[in-house]
Amino acid sequence: MSDILAIYPGSFDPITNGHFDLIQRSSRIFDHLIVALLTNAEKQPLFSVEERVEMLEAVTRDMKNVTVDTFSGLLVDYAVKKNARAIVRGIRAFSDYEYEIQMALTNRKLQPKLETLFLMPAEEYAYVSSRLVKEIARHGGSVKDLVPPMVEERLSRKIVSTIDEV
Ligand code: PNS
Repeated sequence: MSDILAIYPGSFDPITNGHFDLIQRSSRIFDHLIVALLTNAEKQPLFSVEERVEMLEAVTRDMKNVTVDTFSGLLVDYAVKKNARAIVRGIRAFSDYEYEIQMALTNRKLQPKLETLFLMPAEEYAYVSSRLVKEIARHGGSVKDLVPPMVEERLSRKIVSTIDEV
């Protein structure tokens, strides 16, 4: 049987310990994992695509079967191009479920052969989201333990430079 490649897509603005936990779990299940960053998201990101890729690459550097890539357009088109067998998404609370099932079923409609697999992060990260992490950082709170150390440092630098611009 050929190697199984999975894609873990997202905005990663920025990567949190919850994302990292899912990357670790997925890398133990699949032969190869591509962490795929959407570049044409509608929402205005805090970090540029280059900064997000840099952070993702730094934190996954020691994981030999994980690569970081970017995509635009439909996720299923990208997945087919990469010959992927599965899409991985994290489910934290019930609140994630509605959005995730809608996305998974839409993707299945578009590409029936591609499966979406949901993984749960470790429970200590069950509440962590990029949105909350940014909010905490913006108000001067500590995001230690919620994001990898290099992201913590990048966040505080980014918030300071954003405030300086105002
Ligand atoms: O980290 P996010 O923002 O929850 O990730 C969402 C993402 C990037 C997985 C999703 O927006 C996506 O796949 N966008 C690509 C466009 C697409 O394929 N849309 C149709 C399926 S809903």
